[in-house]
Amino acid sequence: MSLHGVRIAGTGSCLPERVVTNADLEKRLDTSDEWIRSRTGIGERRWASEDEATSDFAIPAGRRALEAAGCDPADVDFVICATLTPDMPMPSTAGLIQRGLNLEKAGGFDLSSACAGFVHALTVGTNYVRTGSAKNVLVVGAETMTKVLDHSDRATAVIFADGAGAALLQPAPAGESDVLASRYGLRGDDEVLLLKGGGSRYPTTHESVDEKLHLIFMEGRATFRFAVKTFASLITETCDDAGIAPQDLKLIVPHQVNMRIIEAACTRAKVSTDKCFLNIETVGNTSAASVPIALDDAVRAGKLERGDLVLMLAFGGGLSWSSILLRW
Ligand code: UT7
Repeated sequence: MSLHGVRIAGTGSCLPERVVTNADLEKRLDTSDEWIRSRTGIGERRWASEDEATSDFAIPAGRRALEAAGCDPADVDFVICATLTPDMPMPSTAGLIQRGLNLEKAGGFDLSSACAGFVHALTVGTNYVRTGSAKNVLVVGAETMTKVLDHSDRATAVIFADGAGAALLQPAPAGESDVLASRYGLRGDDEVLLLKGGGSRYPTTHESVDEKLHLIFMEGRATFRFAVKTFASLITETCDDAGIAPQDLKLIVPHQVNMRIIEAACTRAKVSTDKCFLNIETVGNTSAASVPIALDDAVRAGKLERGDLVLMLAFGGGLSWSSILLRW
């Protein structure tokens, strides 16, 4: 089987209109702008309104990626939506995107891997294109984290946010744009980062809701340590696999997890934080939507040219992690 090259032909994103500043959070939680900025790097974030759901952001993000690529919706072969906050367990959010964008012939599915979901989905999507199984693959990362947040828990309520980003993959001539390396990992863990309720182990009951099992629980310190170590190894190991040095990268588009994590990981991997594209200050941590929103912002800011080496990486609940290094 011969492999094609693959490229990102277009990107798009969509954020909720409602801006929530640190000052807004000070009014409802025992927290401060100073604490949030210094511990996370976040100044404001976007939150969905009560009647908005994940596909309300995923569909416009996907539409913008198709427009940027000049791709007719009828030509899309496959759609993958990475999310841990689907509109509902069934139908898939990919199905809602298929209907919303009128992707007449597309197949697709949702991929669940928390914050690492989009980067995993991008790797899966590139393999569909490289092997010739599909030509136009739309990969979306979309979340409404505010629907699963405990709004009284100051450690998580100040970090997480909502939105969606998307990328359209297409074949590229051999030797041009391509995947140079990708990494992944999984360490089954039910203590550090959890959303236990609503599945078959803890089906939704009055009791499960009273115990807040339908909301995110995070052991902040343990997540922090895992994140720094994983982030740094993903940089060095993915670059090693591709036979390049981290200094050769034009851009790193990391999960916008927390400024202190990003800085600590870059120091550990001996790479300048300036290599990282950052929008955490205004977007917050949008889980699976984080990397594609940042990628779209980077593309629209003119940060990438064909031929540049770009590394995307993310990690989170599972615990799981994933990276992909592309020649743009
Ligand atoms: O996508 C993956 C998602 N996960 C993450 O990004 C989380 C990674 N972890 C972190 O970013 C950090 O652990 C946090 C930002 C969540 C917390 O920062 P920290 O420096 O690790 O603080 P801590 O958990 O050790 O807590 C220190 C203090 C505690 O008070 P006491 O016990 O010392 O009195 C917390 O209750 O900070 C308190 N605290 C807050 N204070 C003001 C926790 N959250 C807040 C807050 N405002 N929002």
